[in-house]
Amino acid sequence: MSYSPFSRREFLKSTAALSFMFLPGVGRVKAMPFHIDDPDDYTGRLSHNENPLGPSPLAQKALAKESILANRYPDSFNSTLEAGLAKMHELPANHFCAGAGATEMIRLVADAFLGAGDEIVTATPTYTQMAWEGTTNGAAVVYVPVDKNYVIDLQGILDAVTPKTKLISLVNPNNPLGTIIHKDEMASFLAKVPKGVVVAVDEAYHHYIQTEDYESCIHYVEEGLPVIVIRTLSKAYGLAGARTGYTIASPDLTPQIGSGQLWSTISRPSQAAAIAALDDTSHLEETISLNIQAKEMLYSGFTDMKLEYIQAEANFVMVDVGTDASAVRTALSELGFQVRSGWGMPKHLRVSTGTLDEMAGFLEALASVLEMGIPGSFPIAHTFVLQSIYPNPFNSRCTVRFNVMGDEKVTLVIYDLLGRKVRTLVHDFLPAGEQTVIWDGKDTFGVPAASGIYAVNLLQGEFAAGKRVQLLK
Ligand SMILES: Cc1ncc(COP(=O)(O)O)c(C=O)c1O
Repeated sequence: MSYSPFSRREFLKSTAALSFMFLPGVGRVKAMPFHIDDPDDYTGRLSHNENPLGPSPLAQKALAKESILANRYPDSFNSTLEAGLAKMHELPANHFCAGAGATEMIRLVADAFLGAGDEIVTATPTYTQMAWEGTTNGAAVVYVPVDKNYVIDLQGILDAVTPKTKLISLVNPNNPLGTIIHKDEMASFLAKVPKGVVVAVDEAYHHYIQTEDYESCIHYVEEGLPVIVIRTLSKAYGLAGARTGYTIASPDLTPQIGSGQLWSTISRPSQAAAIAALDDTSHLEETISLNIQAKEMLYSGFTDMKLEYIQAEANFVMVDVGTDASAVRTALSELGFQVRSGWGMPKHLRVSTGTLDEMAGFLEALASVLEMGIPGSFPIAHTFVLQSIYPNPFNSRCTVRFNVMGDEKVTLVIYDLLGRKVRTLVHDFLPAGEQTVIWDGKDTFGVPAASGIYAVNLLQGEFAAGKRVQLLK
C-alpha cells in the first residue's frame, strides 16, 4: 500500500471538523480496536513494535498445515520446539523453557525468584512487566533512572542491591529507549553482582542490534552465571499473534522457571509456526534490512524537522517532538498513525518502524502536525499514570486516581505485602482520561481487610505502576 501525500490544508480542515473518518491514502482514522480483521487496517500501527513484513512464509505454511490438527493437543511440554531452539543456539535442550510469549516467561521468572519481602532492582524507564509481576508476588521494586544518555545505569543498579534483592531485571536493548548496554560494561557489571542475585536480561529486540559493541548474555549462561536470557518470536520473527517466547538459563535455573508453567500454553499451530520461523533466515534478514532502512528514513526525517531522537538499536525510535507528545499522538492518530507516549517523558513519542511507505506517510503526518501546531481545543491523548491514593493512611475508604489510555484493558488490583491478592477493583476497558476508583477496604468476599500496608497495582498493556497505601483501623 502506498501513501498519497495529503496536504496540510486537508489536515487543518479535518482537525477543525473532527468528524472525518478517512483521509486519502492514510487508512483508518482514530484509535484502533484490537480485534480487527483486515490486514490493511493495521497500516499505520506504529505502536506495538511488530514486524511489518508479517510472519515468515514458512511459518504461514506451517500454521495452515497444523490448523487441521487443531483437534489434537499440542506437544504439551514444547519438547520439539525446545529441541529446535537448542539446535539453533547450539546448547543442550535443558537450558530452554518455551512459553506463550516473553510475557509468560517474565511471569514464570518472577514467580520462580520473587516473593514477599524480596526486592527486585530494575531501570526506569523500561518495559515494566517484571516489576509488575514482582509486586504482585509481594516483592518491592527499586527503580534506578537511566543515565543522561538514556542508558541503563549499571553502577546505580549495583548500588541499589541490598541483602533483600533476589532479582535484577534488565531489558537490552531497552524498551522504550532503544539504547543498549555495551558488552564490556555488561561483563564488569555481572562480575560484581552479589551471590544469590539472579539477573534476568530481556533480549526481545536482540536481532535488531547493529553495533559491534554488544553481545547477547547467552554466553554467560553457558559460563554458569545466574543469568536468565528472555527471548521472543514476536518481534524479528513476526509472530506476535502466535505467542511464543523462551528463556535460556542454566540447567539449575531452568526447572525453577518451568515448574510453575501450565501445560500446553503454546498452541499446536503456534509451536509449528515457531519451529518453521527459526529456519527462515532469509525472512529474518529481510526484516533486519527493512528495519535499518526504516530507521534511516525516520532519522533523516527527524533531522529535517530539527527534532532530536535517541539512536536506537531496536525496531522503534524515541523522538523528542518539542511539545506535548500526547497531543501530537492524538493528532497523528486522527491521521491514521498510532504511536506511543508516556514513561514520564512528556515530549517523546515512541515510533515503531514499519514499511517504507508507512514511514513516509508518518513523517509527512508528523511534519503537518508540528507545522500547524496543536489547536487549543484539540482533544489530548491521555497517557498512563497512577496519580494518587488519598487519604493515605485511610480508615474506611480511599480513592485511587489514575489516568489511562483508551485502547487497552485496565487492571487495578490490591495485594497485601505477602503478595496475596486482596481485591480486583478493575479489569475492564475504561474510557481514556482521568479515572477514580474507591476501595472500601474490603477483600473479594466483602470481609474488611486487616490494618496494614497494601500494594495498589495498575496495569494497562505495556504500562504498569504501583503505589502503597496504609489501612489504619
Ligand atoms: C522488552 C519486551 N519484553 C517482552 C515483551 C512481550 O513480548 P511477547 O510478545 O513475546 O509476550 C515486549 C513486547 O513488546 C517487550 O517490548
